[in-house]
Amino acid sequence: MTQLQAQDMNNEQTEIMDRNLALELARVSEAAALAASKLVGSGDKVEADQVAVDAMRSALNTLHIQGRVVIGEGERDEAPMLYIGEEVGDGKGPKVDIALDPLEGTDITAAGGPNALAVIAMTDEGGFLNAPDVYMDKIAVGPSINPDILDLDAPIADVLKKVASEKGGNVNELMVCILDRPRHEQLIADVRAAGARITLIGDGDVSAVIATTDPDTGIDLYVGSGGAPEGVLAAAALQCIGGSMLGRLTFRNDDERARAKRWGINDLNKVYTTDDLAKGDNVMFAATGVTDGTMLRGVRRYAGGAKTSTIVMRSKSGTVRRIEATHNFNRKNWLKAI
Ligand code: FBP
Repeated sequence: MTQLQAQDMNNEQTEIMDRNLALELARVSEAAALAASKLVGSGDKVEADQVAVDAMRSALNTLHIQGRVVIGEGERDEAPMLYIGEEVGDGKGPKVDIALDPLEGTDITAAGGPNALAVIAMTDEGGFLNAPDVYMDKIAVGPSINPDILDLDAPIADVLKKVASEKGGNVNELMVCILDRPRHEQLIADVRAAGARITLIGDGDVSAVIATTDPDTGIDLYVGSGGAPEGVLAAAALQCIGGSMLGRLTFRNDDERARAKRWGINDLNKVYTTDDLAKGDNVMFAATGVTDGTMLRGVRRYAGGAKTSTIVMRSKSGTVRRIEATHNFNRKNWLKAI
């Protein structure tokens, strides 16, 4: 066999492994969503998060990978499981970095609101920004919009005019999604003054960023400040499905700045592109709905089983799969995690 043929065979094997891994991720997000779904409306966000973490970790540890958590439940001293730096998987397959949020929308789940998800993304070593748990200013649009018009410093009215012109319409037709927070009071006033319409959401900006990629959601632009780890997860999804975002970390105190420096971030004012947040070549992303949302149906539970709705995507192929799964809790091989 020539060197070239050996290389081709190697590439083919890697591709097969990547494809399988992407589908395996669906099992991991399903496990977390199924576990969290038991606590929908319970009022107990801590327990909802805990069961999702436990289930995601057990499912993740069955994968044939040498995984390292880059975006996780927090730093080691504050999160006993799925902490940043934790090694996951069976320790034998490819070396990969993992970004995860076993329950994106803990309050949503506790209240039985919309758009709670279990989310996981994977890429080659070093592919995700090591984002500390601070806020990030974000702005995101779907694939039909030229990414160059995004700007975190320009007046929002100017950005809205450019989005409207890219869409061939007027600002008053646009729908802007913003987290309903006091810190966004001025932003909301400015968007209203510019004439655009607004969807205010209580929580869940991973789902809100992804919503910009699907014309059926009616969301044209996501803007505002939310969690930085959620920014990396949203960027991972956009790398696969299309669309673009900018993010810039924001700090409330010196402790948060020190946290960023510990993770190797020296330029605290850097504006990150989608590519900086989640490098493009080999990103995989899976999310399963916990509660009903713009992108996915929540878990349906019934006697002896449940149904889940999952989206799985890969940046290399650009394939976006939707998996509607029926889980039979009475079968012997049913995941022990649930
Ligand atoms: P949790 O799942 O940790 O509750 O996060 C939900 C969320 O709404 C994220 O989607 C968002 O990025 C972040 O919280 C916003 O933070 P805050 O609630 O502090 O404004």
